[in-house]
Amino acid sequence: MAKKNRTTALADWDRTYLWHPFTQMQEWEQEEPLIIERGKGSYLIDTAGKKYLDGTSSIWVNLHGHRHPALDRAIKTQLDKIAHSTFLGLSNPPAIHLARELIRIAPKGLRRVFYSDNGSTAVEVALKMAVQYWQQRRPEAGPKNTFLHLKLAYHGDTLGAVSVGNIELFHGRFKSLLFPTLEADPPYCYRCPLNLTHPSCRMACLDPIEQILKERHRELAGFIIEPLVQAAAGMITAPQGYLKKIRELCTKYQVLLIADEVATGFGRTGKMFACQHEGVTPDLMAISKGLTGGYMPLAATLATEEIYKGFLGAYEDFKTFFHGHSYTGNPLGCAVALANLDLFKNEKTLARLQPKIKTMARLLQPLRQLPHVGDIRQRGFMAAIELVEDKKTRTPYPLEGRIGHRVTAEAKGHGLLLRPLGHIMVLMPPLSTDTSTLRRMITILRESITTVTDS
Ligand SMILES: Cc1ncc(COP(=O)(O)O)c(C=O)c1O
Repeated sequence: MAKKNRTTALADWDRTYLWHPFTQMQEWEQEEPLIIERGKGSYLIDTAGKKYLDGTSSIWVNLHGHRHPALDRAIKTQLDKIAHSTFLGLSNPPAIHLARELIRIAPKGLRRVFYSDNGSTAVEVALKMAVQYWQQRRPEAGPKNTFLHLKLAYHGDTLGAVSVGNIELFHGRFKSLLFPTLEADPPYCYRCPLNLTHPSCRMACLDPIEQILKERHRELAGFIIEPLVQAAAGMITAPQGYLKKIRELCTKYQVLLIADEVATGFGRTGKMFACQHEGVTPDLMAISKGLTGGYMPLAATLATEEIYKGFLGAYEDFKTFFHGHSYTGNPLGCAVALANLDLFKNEKTLARLQPKIKTMARLLQPLRQLPHVGDIRQRGFMAAIELVEDKKTRTPYPLEGRIGHRVTAEAKGHGLLLRPLGHIMVLMPPLSTDTSTLRRMITILRESITTVTDS
């Protein structure tokens, strides 16, 4: 079939048979879908052979670029042995090696790896582990079965993860299905809920958190947080020392700290895990996305030995963690995840990233002058540009105006693929992106913002 005919046929079948995530399908059906067939480095290539810059790392998963030979090889080599065998009652070499390696690189004190297959389930596992841990470890203390989380948090789309999330547009309509939780204001300095300014505020937003912990710790199983960066909220970056203080408070009030490193893990913030910037070890840690370098769906929840031990006992004590998935510990996913971690060593990914983080900051800096750029937030190789209708009053663009969507459409026309968070533009290229490609991305982003906001 000629390229054009093939693309047309695929587009028709897409519109006829598919239902895309986070997508208004009525609109999708009217548009030409972009059908990606191949990739190379920081580029995605569609069925017509057109190249696009992958400005979102394919939704925050890709680290070393597409079609990295070492990652391709890892999957092919594993495929010659076996694609999958169950982890229920059996084990497999890649899953064992990967667990060892994860514990080696994780914040000190995390000692056990429980696999699942996406970020939401890694969070779901952490929540269930926390509740069951308290039931078994300290039954006399009464049920500790709710969670504290930050407003605007996003921990995934399964119902447990949605319960500890707080993005009204995504979560509001499911409220009746969710378990009750406690919420605290996030450290959103650009729109400080306390109307204060950092650093003179001395992180006063921590006071209400301490108050909640003091009053309600008896019922709190855990405090779940996206360490350093609340990603889906619009890359809200926490001030230095905030996470460490949260760790101290959780320890003081005997509430488990659950770090959701699904977005921040694997180098995104400039260190392997965001917690490591502040020497923090959470009690439970959810990881996914970059775990396989963006190749395969795989996730894990890491736990301390203390938590793990809380589940030990004779079978008839029924302390087993009764949770698992068909594809838990998938050998293909684990093999490519291992190769991903090898690349961090062999290619010195983190060391090579540091100057690029600085370059990103330097290139983004001038965008602050644009009349509709309210704030730019960056942590490591993740950045967000908050667009505002009125810079002085910080009035956001109305949701219906879909400013982010319009900038994205403009950027796509110039060969850069983005995925905005409402009025917030996100730039999260693969860690391997070189400086000139990064510059190209930021130039297109700037021009697209200017074109759309000027009109
Ligand atoms: C912090 C965080 N947690 C959890 C998730 C959910 O991950 P997944 O989409 O793999 O279920 C995401 C996804 O963006 C995330 O950013």
